[in-house]
Amino acid sequence: MATTTRSKTNRTDTPPRDSHGRFKHKSAFSFDRQTGAIAAAAVAGAAVGLAANMGRKMMMQSPTYMAGNWDDALKAEHKATLALFDQLEATGDDQTTTRSHLLMKIKYSLSKHALQEESVIYPAMREANDAHDADDLNGEHGYVKSYLYELENMAKDGPEFLARVRDFRALLEGHIRNEEDNVFPRLRASMSEEQNKKLTMAMNREGLKLA
Ligand SMILES: [Fe+2]
Ligand SMILES: [Fe+2]
Repeated sequence: MATTTRSKTNRTDTPPRDSHGRFKHKSAFSFDRQTGAIAAAAVAGAAVGLAANMGRKMMMQSPTYMAGNWDDALKAEHKATLALFDQLEATGDDQTTTRSHLLMKIKYSLSKHALQEESVIYPAMREANDAHDADDLNGEHGYVKSYLYELENMAKDGPEFLARVRDFRALLEGHIRNEEDNVFPRLRASMSEEQNKKLTMAMNREGLKLA
């Protein structure tokens, strides 16, 4: 009589076992060497990425940090931004890509600058009973954003473009003069050296967020 029973030794679908008789197959949750290596590489890659990003941020913030006290640092940023305006005003109507690129750089530098002033310096002015100037300056920052919005959406090859850039610069220079000649020296003088140092550190921490 024919039998359908197969010998155990002939079965080919039995999973392989190790020398201790344990199945060699992996469970869905097993964490083999290769997976571990890939995961470790991903973690290491993320850490390198984070470190590189922090390095880049430190580099972007370093001119401000190196300039010293908070008001000197803000002055250095004013100067650097006006230098970008010089470059923009020197462009011709056919240099539309350069104009867009410089506008982007001006927007970046003014955004970081505004974050430092609005989040740290102007609040310190309000604490020092100078809310009136802080609110005025904060309001002017709103018009800075309006100019940037307008220029970004304007044709870059028309004669109106540079005329609007010059209007923008005039507003900015008046704002800067008020900060550098009146408001900031008053705030600096109203605080101790220790308080000024703390304000400088707080401002650099804030700047790093957007650097
Ligand atoms: Fe300002
Ligand atoms: Fe400023």
